[in-house]
Amino acid sequence: MRIDIVTIFPEFFSVLDVSLLGRARQAGILQVAAHDLREHTHDRHRTVDDTPYGGGAGMVMKPEPWGEALDALVTDESVLIVPSPAGEPFTQQIAREFAHAPHLVFACGRYEGIDQRVVDHYSSRIPVRLISLGDYVLNGGEVAAMAMIEAVGRLVPGVVGNPESLVEESHEDGLLEYPSYTKPAVWRGLEVPPVLLSGNHGAVAAWRREQQIERTRRVRPELLDDRG
Ligand code: ADE
Repeated sequence: MRIDIVTIFPEFFSVLDVSLLGRARQAGILQVAAHDLREHTHDRHRTVDDTPYGGGAGMVMKPEPWGEALDALVTDESVLIVPSPAGEPFTQQIAREFAHAPHLVFACGRYEGIDQRVVDHYSSRIPVRLISLGDYVLNGGEVAAMAMIEAVGRLVPGVVGNPESLVEESHEDGLLEYPSYTKPAVWRGLEVPPVLLSGNHGAVAAWRREQQIERTRRVRPELLDDRG
């Protein structure tokens, strides 16, 4: 899979050199490149924003640098992802969908967002998705893009060493994951639940399922409603 990111802060994405995704990049499973939007400006000040038509606070990102930057990256195979607090909420389901795409392009806006015509223009050519990380406001799309790249990247075959570890985690079956324990069996007076030491695989599976349902009911009851 190839991932291109357009941003005024390409250095933000240097952390993608480390850890699991860094290894996947070295192995050639993932190709990730961050591009500087300002390379596509042509004035002395390398201007990427201007005041909003209609007035109001803040600045809006100009369409011309975005058009030039995206034209250089987008192909018929691309999905364009625009992180935005006005987008649809990011979920594991969307991460799975993106993991099947051969090419993702992230357009990271700052200020009050990108001129709407950029989304409208590319929507006539390729899928364009406005995606929100959650109901709060970040300073720009970079941190949201990073979170999405990590969630999507680890679903690409070969990135996570043991694919079974992807199956039994939160959100894969619509429930939160069960609590996990390792040695020692007693730590600071706290015991591991005895069923986990019983060697009874059926009882362990039943206990874990109960824990998943109890935890989900307690902190995310709407997830149970969504399952019908
Ligand atoms: N940009 C600013 N806030 C954001 C959010 N919550 N999700 C995605 N992109 C954003």
